[in-house]
Amino acid sequence: MIMKDKILHPLIMVHDVDYVYSNGTIALKQISLNIKKGEFIAIMGQNGAGKTTLIRTFNGLIRPTKGSIFLEGENIDSKTIATISKKVGVIFQNPMHQLFSTTLEDEIKFSLKSLNLNKEEIQIKVDQILEEFDLEKYRKRSPFNLSGGESKKLATASILCRDPDVLVFDEPTLGQDAKEINFFLGLIKSELERGKTIIMVTHNIEFTVEHVPRTILMSGGQIIADGPTQSIFTNEFLISKSSLIMPQIYLFKKELRKIGITIPKEVIRESEIINFLDNYLDNKTTI
Ligand SMILES: Nc1ncnc2c1ncn2[C@@H]1O[C@H](COP(=O)(O)OP(=O)(O)O)[C@@H](O)[C@H]1O
Ligand SMILES: [Mg+2]
Repeated sequence: MIMKDKILHPLIMVHDVDYVYSNGTIALKQISLNIKKGEFIAIMGQNGAGKTTLIRTFNGLIRPTKGSIFLEGENIDSKTIATISKKVGVIFQNPMHQLFSTTLEDEIKFSLKSLNLNKEEIQIKVDQILEEFDLEKYRKRSPFNLSGGESKKLATASILCRDPDVLVFDEPTLGQDAKEINFFLGLIKSELERGKTIIMVTHNIEFTVEHVPRTILMSGGQIIADGPTQSIFTNEFLISKSSLIMPQIYLFKKELRKIGITIPKEVIRESEIINFLDNYLDNKTTI
């Protein structure tokens, strides 16, 4: 019976949620969505669409004005942020709001406090995570003396060390250089392999098209589309409605079509397109 229940319930279920800020701003309207274990989802939409507000409801930081959120089939309205945060870790856009200890090491230690580990276990975990994030060399440094990219890494490390089932990132690639984005990509790939569920709010359409299978598009506090990334970003109406720019790879395909080269719909990633064109040109020159 228990197994059956687990299969029936999505990991996260948002049911008809509204959120109104105390100044009267209606930030979320009739939001309903289901998230399954192991999914990798992008939440996109213009500034003010309600993306950050939505993810703040996922770990109980704010509570819906109307509607409910279920985690593994249980309503989270009676659970504390501390309890929910063990399962749902949210890494916010501005990491400085999340960091407050005097050293990096203490920051991680503090984060591990609620897990009932003994001193040695904590030390082992701290060492492990600092090494994994290449922050070992800064262990005694103040979190406030880090670069933007490093402080984002620390904020991520301080959530990841608790090993939550769901990881939620708000604009993780914003202001990051190519090396930092690659580090992030490696990290989410290994977390997905470990069965984690990942939700990321992002404006990075190229990243989404290349790596994220499902996209939720928001506008004016509502979900205007939810589905496979490739269906959403080939829909010009949706793109313009949410003030997004068509991914370069689709524009490229569109231009190629004008000169008679039709790349199949399912070929969407950069490497797949290169392969396709390689074959295409090979065939052309041998004819
Ligand atoms: N603390 C707040 N108090 C009042 N209004 C807010 C607050 N935070 C966000 N808003 C408003 O709620 C709406 C949604 O904001 P937000 O969720 O931050 O959007 P996004 O992350 O998509 O840019 C916007 O109109 C924004 O101005
Ligand atoms: Mg935001």
